Amino acid sequence: MTEAAFNTLDDLNVAGKTVLVRADLNVPMQDGAVSDTTRIDRLAPTLTELARKGAKVVVLSHFGRPKAGPDAANSLRHVLPALSKAVGQDVAFAGTCVGEAAKAVIAGVSPGDVVLLENTRFHAGEEKNDPAFASQLAELGDLYVNDAFSAAHRAHASTEGVARRLPSAAGRLMQQELEALAKALETPERPVCAVVGGAKISTKLDLLGNLVARVDMLALGGGMANTFLFAQGAELGASLCERDMADQARAIMDKAKACGCEILLPVDFVVATEFKSGAEDRVVAVNAVGPEEMALDIGPATVALLAQKIGTAKTVVWNGPLGAFEITPFDAGTNAVAAEVAKRTQAGALLSVAGGGDTVAALAAAGVEDTFTYVSAAGGAFLEWLEGKDLPGVAALKTSQA
Ligand code: 3PG
Ligand code: MG
Repeated sequence: MTEAAFNTLDDLNVAGKTVLVRADLNVPMQDGAVSDTTRIDRLAPTLTELARKGAKVVVLSHFGRPKAGPDAANSLRHVLPALSKAVGQDVAFAGTCVGEAAKAVIAGVSPGDVVLLENTRFHAGEEKNDPAFASQLAELGDLYVNDAFSAAHRAHASTEGVARRLPSAAGRLMQQELEALAKALETPERPVCAVVGGAKISTKLDLLGNLVARVDMLALGGGMANTFLFAQGAELGASLCERDMADQARAIMDKAKACGCEILLPVDFVVATEFKSGAEDRVVAVNAVGPEEMALDIGPATVALLAQKIGTAKTVVWNGPLGAFEITPFDAGTNAVAAEVAKRTQAGALLSVAGGGDTVAALAAAGVEDTFTYVSAAGGAFLEWLEGKDLPGVAALKTSQA
C-alpha cells in the first residue's frame, strides 16, 4: 500500500453532502460508561473536519458481538455522551442504522451536525456482507469515509460492501495508521528489528513466517520464545511452552536463515515457582531453569542484548509483551526494552511502530505509548497486517475512489 493508493479527506468535496463515516466505536465499557476513550479521541478529528467543511456526518460502527439482533447491552447509545464530548457538540442518535427511521433522523439535522447510528451488528446482513444490506447503508449517504482501521480485517457490509457502492476515502485515523504501517514494514529504513512477544507461537505462526522474510532481526520474548528454545534443546522446567510446536518453530528458524533474518532469543530469564506478584525470583541462564521453575520474564543479559541490537536498527515493529507484564516484577524486561526503543525514537534515530491487543496495555504500563512513533489502536487488524494479509476494508478503499 502506498499513500497514493487510496483517497483521503483531501480528495473529497463534502460541503452540503451526507458523509457516512465507518468508525470503530467498539470501546471498553465499565458501569455503563466508556472506560478508555482512545479510539473515540483518535476518531474525533475526522468527524470535526467533515463537520467544519459543511458535511452532515453520519457515523456507523459495530459494538460488541451481538448474535441475535438488537439488545440493550450492545447499544451504541451508551457511547453517545463520550462521542459528543470528543467532537465538542451534541451528537444526534438514530435507533437503527438503515431504513426510513435512520433516513428521517439524518434528514432532520443540518450540515455541520453529527449523527450516530445504532450498532450495525444488530442486522444479520452486516457480518455476512449482504449486498442488499450494504445497499441500504449506502442509500443513507453521498460519500463514504472509512476511519476504522481496527475493523478493516472484517469483510463486513459497513467496512467493505458500502465502500464498493459509494465514492470512498480513508479518514484521518485510517490514513495515519496506513502511513505509519507502510513506513514500518513496506518501505522501511533498514535495518528493521521486529520485537514479538506473547504467550504462544500457535496463534502467531503466520505472523512470524511473514516477518522473517521482511525484517533483518526478529527478537522473540514471552512464552513463545520458550518454544523456540525448547526446539533447540533447552529444558524449561515448568515454563509455558508449546512442546508440540517445536517443528513449526524450527521451520521458522530455517526460513529466517534462508531469508537472512537474525533471530534473537533470550539468553537469560527471570524465573519463579509461583505466578504471582512479588513471587521470589532469580535470574538464570536459559539452560538452567529448575524443574519447578517458570520463566516469567527475560533477564538483564537479554535486555542488554536487545538494547544493543535495537541500537543498530533504524526501524522497530513491536507486537506483544516480553514477559508476564501484568505482574511485577515480571514487567521489568518489557519496560526496559520499551524504554530503550522510546529513547532511540526520541533521539530521532529510530522509527517505532507498535500495536495489537496486549501490546498497547504493556506499552502504556511502561509509560512509553506517547514516545513511540506510532502506537496502533488496532488489535486483530494489526496482527493480520503483520501477517501480510490484505485487509478487506483497506482493499475496498483502494479500488473505490472518489
Ligand atoms: C476490535 O475491537 O478489535 C475491532 O473493533 C474488531 O472487533 P471484532 O473482533 O468483534 O470484529
Ligand atoms: Mg481490532
